[in-house]
Amino acid sequence: MTSSTPAAVQPRAEWTGQIGFIVSAIGSAVGLGNIWRFPGVAYENGGGAFLIPYIVALLTAGIPILFLDYAIGHRFRGSAPLALRRLAGKLGEGIGWFQVMICVFIAIYYTAVLAWAASYFVFSFSMPWGDDATGFFVGEYLKLSDAPFTMEFVPGVLIPLVLMWIITLIVLGAGVVNGVQRLNMIAMPLLVIGFLVLVVRALMLPGAAEGLNALFTPDFAALADPGVWVAAYSQIFFSLSVAFGIMMTYASYRKRRSNMTTPGLVVAFANSSFEILAGIGVFATLGFFAYQQGIAVSELEGLTGVGLAFMTFPAIVAEMPGGPFFGALFFGSLTLAALTSLISILEVVFAGVIDKFGISRKTAAYGLGGVLAVVSVLLFGTTSGLIALDTIDNWANNIGIVASAVVMTITVLWIRRAGRELSGHLSALSTFKVGRIWLFLVSVLGPVVLGYMLIATVVSLIAEPYEGYDPGYLLVVGWGSVLLMIVGSIVLTALPWKFEPDRFTPWPPLDASGRSASPGSVSHRAADAAQTEGGAR
Ligand code: ALA
Repeated sequence: MTSSTPAAVQPRAEWTGQIGFIVSAIGSAVGLGNIWRFPGVAYENGGGAFLIPYIVALLTAGIPILFLDYAIGHRFRGSAPLALRRLAGKLGEGIGWFQVMICVFIAIYYTAVLAWAASYFVFSFSMPWGDDATGFFVGEYLKLSDAPFTMEFVPGVLIPLVLMWIITLIVLGAGVVNGVQRLNMIAMPLLVIGFLVLVVRALMLPGAAEGLNALFTPDFAALADPGVWVAAYSQIFFSLSVAFGIMMTYASYRKRRSNMTTPGLVVAFANSSFEILAGIGVFATLGFFAYQQGIAVSELEGLTGVGLAFMTFPAIVAEMPGGPFFGALFFGSLTLAALTSLISILEVVFAGVIDKFGISRKTAAYGLGGVLAVVSVLLFGTTSGLIALDTIDNWANNIGIVASAVVMTITVLWIRRAGRELSGHLSALSTFKVGRIWLFLVSVLGPVVLGYMLIATVVSLIAEPYEGYDPGYLLVVGWGSVLLMIVGSIVLTALPWKFEPDRFTPWPPLDASGRSASPGSVSHRAADAAQTEGGAR
């Protein structure tokens, strides 16, 4: 970059305070991962015993890497590519763009699920699936074809999909405070209330206790299976929204003098509490379903993901007294949870391009967002979307996010050796201080465990075609997605910046009273006064 390049960095948006940030971060974390993924993953990986690897994964990788995301985003005040560029040069920027690319792929299919959930919220009142929920979903609703790609549009899916894109892009175009924060402040209380009512209702159903026994009865032998640990770590990463740019971007909108770690703990434990609550609600309902049919819960099918939400749940709702109400609560919750998470996923993408290319938020939301919407509609508004969704979901989460975490921790902590700087930043104004244990977890244990996970996943995906799908298809759609993420991040890193990204001074250290330590730094002290966020000292 030359000195003739305009240096003006656009002023960064800010949450109105700590509450706005925490609610938005919980909104991002609580999503499909909590409601449709966690219950089935826990059940299939040791039931009650799964809580052990789950809690270990939360404490050893989820929370430490969440703090790492916060520290980088806040200290270097940027989207993933900008903050990582300022911290670790071009390599850092490349990792940031890789995280943006992961979000592009996730957003494209996540919107499809959001659209299905919104459709099913409406369907709950009339239950058009009768006694064949699976047939209705794949046949009448998705009109699924066997061909891997078709251009036959399905209006029943296309219309809600376009609608969800429009809503999401309007919210994002309105800005961090007026759009993202405002939506979360409305949607999150509604989600919590709606979901609590659903869980209480589910617990009153006959058979609920058997459902909970099925979920929580521990199978300690499962803990010897490395696959169970891999499942726990990937569940935590996806669910907590760490290592793919979200928490870094959200932390960059916090005021300077912010308590970093305590809100992180609030977000992490709120997310896990919601996950356990979802497990209770879903398995109490499955217990009722098994009871209705006079079979054991273990004999049921479709206990996770698409099958659980769009085949098993509608079937249960049809058999239940007050089914429409219960269905509306379930699909309404799924819609709100997915919407607030999708917003955060797309914010990573838009923040990245706004920072690098200096375009306005509205141009990013309506221009780039429009392009992503078209891709999403072409892939998932047609008769061929379901297998693509499953494949991209698996590769983006189990390869993309895990690889991003490994490369980011190695780059930041081993190549750039920024551990002390970041732990100092995290502890400066936080009531919960981090030190050597955090450093050990993010720099040693994290890369080792996640590196092992990544290798194990790659080996198993090569050895055995995922879900028995055609290997050629998996090569193009699964590995092809990862390849596109890498190529995209290289190209985006190579493009020129609109302003000089490296002309930046990290905030100086704060003294014990939480003020700028540098003597005579009047401007910093004035900035401190204007930059204190509620809750920070
Ligand atoms: N954290 C979000 C979820 O759980 C992405 O769905």
